[in-house]
Amino acid sequence: MQRFLDLADFERAEVKDLLGLASRLQQNPDPHALAGKVLGLLFMNPSLRTLASFQSGMMRLGGSVFVITPGQGTWQLETRNGAVMNGAAAEHIKEAVPVMASYCDALGVRMFAEGKNLQADINETGFKMIADLCDKPLINLESAVNHPCQALADWYTMDELNVPERGKFVISWVNHPRALPLAVPSATVQMAAMRGMDVVVLRPEGYALPDAIMEKARVAARASGGNVTETTDRPAALKGAQVVYAKEWGSPQHYGDAEAETRLREDLVDWCVKDSWFKHTAPDCHLMHCLPVRRNVAVDDEVLDSSRSVVIREAFNRMVVQMAVLHRLLRNK
Ligand code: CP
Repeated sequence: MQRFLDLADFERAEVKDLLGLASRLQQNPDPHALAGKVLGLLFMNPSLRTLASFQSGMMRLGGSVFVITPGQGTWQLETRNGAVMNGAAAEHIKEAVPVMASYCDALGVRMFAEGKNLQADINETGFKMIADLCDKPLINLESAVNHPCQALADWYTMDELNVPERGKFVISWVNHPRALPLAVPSATVQMAAMRGMDVVVLRPEGYALPDAIMEKARVAARASGGNVTETTDRPAALKGAQVVYAKEWGSPQHYGDAEAETRLREDLVDWCVKDSWFKHTAPDCHLMHCLPVRRNVAVDDEVLDSSRSVVIREAFNRMVVQMAVLHRLLRNK
């Protein structure tokens, strides 16, 4: 494996093989596997889990990590092609990324969507620019429309919880004070489709996921024997669900238009997961969320504090599965 950028780059069997390695490493730790190896992490955007879980995972495998958060003790970085650099950014990624790559054996990069042009973000314009500058094994730590590490951890979590591969998986839009990127919903729909699940995207009017993202997931579902549908009908979607995955995302219909988005959200305060949502789900239906989560805006306390919630386990499993990714990328290289 040279790069870990998108679950869709792998066959279902390859993902399952990676999850098997994660499980083996969890049961039989390999604390010297990556001795002498260095992981570089470039965070163009904030993080808690991704930052800490990669550092911890790399150290548990015997390796070392350096972290660059531009503008916080290091130069602010310019990303625009052809920019006249007379502003705050002192260095361009065209120099910074190859320099960072030269210091490490693998590089992880987080670069969120710009949130202005939907097609440019779907095309991963920003992340691809960085990827093209890196000649070392590369890990996507969350890009405009992808978060493969989160998706891998969520697949692992469902396996641990014995959620059936053919089970009903509902990803529901939930509220947030502002528009959030499409990375997690896109990666999550893809993951559940690849796993072979009956995937339902539940969302209000105006929040349909872009066709390109849905079609990509449908292709994966056709290969795995799963199914992907979309609805605004909450009771129908939740009926018999084994998983409710709560996620906030901005309206693709009003992409880059914060005022229109705010108006659309005004009537959507009831899109906050409550205990009553689970009245007709499977009795042991799990609540998943990638975190961070806004309590009592996206998910009520009564659900997050209940035994349905597996959010802490999902976050822990970030470290577990990323250790397998690092092992695959760096062992014997
Ligand atoms: N879920 C996730 O990626 O968390 P962070 O943004 O804190 O890394």
